[in-house]
Amino acid sequence: MSPATIAAIRGARHVAVLTGAGISAESGIPTFRDALTGWWARFRPEDLATPEAFQRDPDLVWRWYRERRLRLRDVMPNPGHYALAELARRVPSLTLVTQNVDGLHARAGSADVIELHGNLARVKCFDQGHPAPDFPDTDAVPRCALCGSPLRPDVVWFGELLPADALRRAQAAAGDCDVFLSVGTSNLVEPAASLPWIATRRGVTVMIVNPSATGQSSGPNIHHLAGPAGRVLPELLREAWPG
Ligand code: APR
Repeated sequence: MSPATIAAIRGARHVAVLTGAGISAESGIPTFRDALTGWWARFRPEDLATPEAFQRDPDLVWRWYRERRLRLRDVMPNPGHYALAELARRVPSLTLVTQNVDGLHARAGSADVIELHGNLARVKCFDQGHPAPDFPDTDAVPRCALCGSPLRPDVVWFGELLPADALRRAQAAAGDCDVFLSVGTSNLVEPAASLPWIATRRGVTVMIVNPSATGQSSGPNIHHLAGPAGRVLPELLREAWPG
């Protein structure tokens, strides 16, 4: 790791972090498309992850998310998640923004995670967005206790807007930070993909943790830390704060 990278993270006042599917890869969580295996291989994401799909066949969509949620019980956070929770204890201020819906940052000890795409473990009702206390373990789609509308997972589906407050807080962090850390994201899906650009344009240090350079920007203030997050992030911590 370069001395400039180490100096930037050690001296940071506010670190903004954006994570994507790549940080959970080493926990064994398949990406959205890779999860369409076995019986589910006959479907396309648009058959399952849109409001229209839910209106067409709510039980089918419910079963798909129930299965994905149950699979989360078998996975654990990995050293990349733990390193980010530790980084928050090392720097004066850290904002953690994720595109993941797996809840692994919180399980690794990160507090106040901004979840841009929702969370697979939460449910709300389709019509009014009333939150439900827990994820009912039923085959058929359950109903909201308050208004009777069907319950759906509290995740952002294709064609839906991101939660406005989460997006606003994420953009504010990118506009205020002095180090921006982008971990395990392909930077293809807007509006999250624009967050590193907000930081890059301000000339602050941007660090990209990804084994692949595909789709990632380069520039004088952009440091590409090539490798899996579960190795690179603990290494960054060890080198910045030896002992
Ligand atoms: N460590 C770090 N990065 C990794 C690792 C790893 N161990 N393994 C893979 N990657 C990188 C890949 O090189 C790729 O750049 O993680 C990135 C994953 O990209 P995507 O699958 O496109 O995930 P993401 O950027 O989170 O996608 C955004 O798209 O499918 C929708 O809603 C879904 O939240 C998701 C959004």
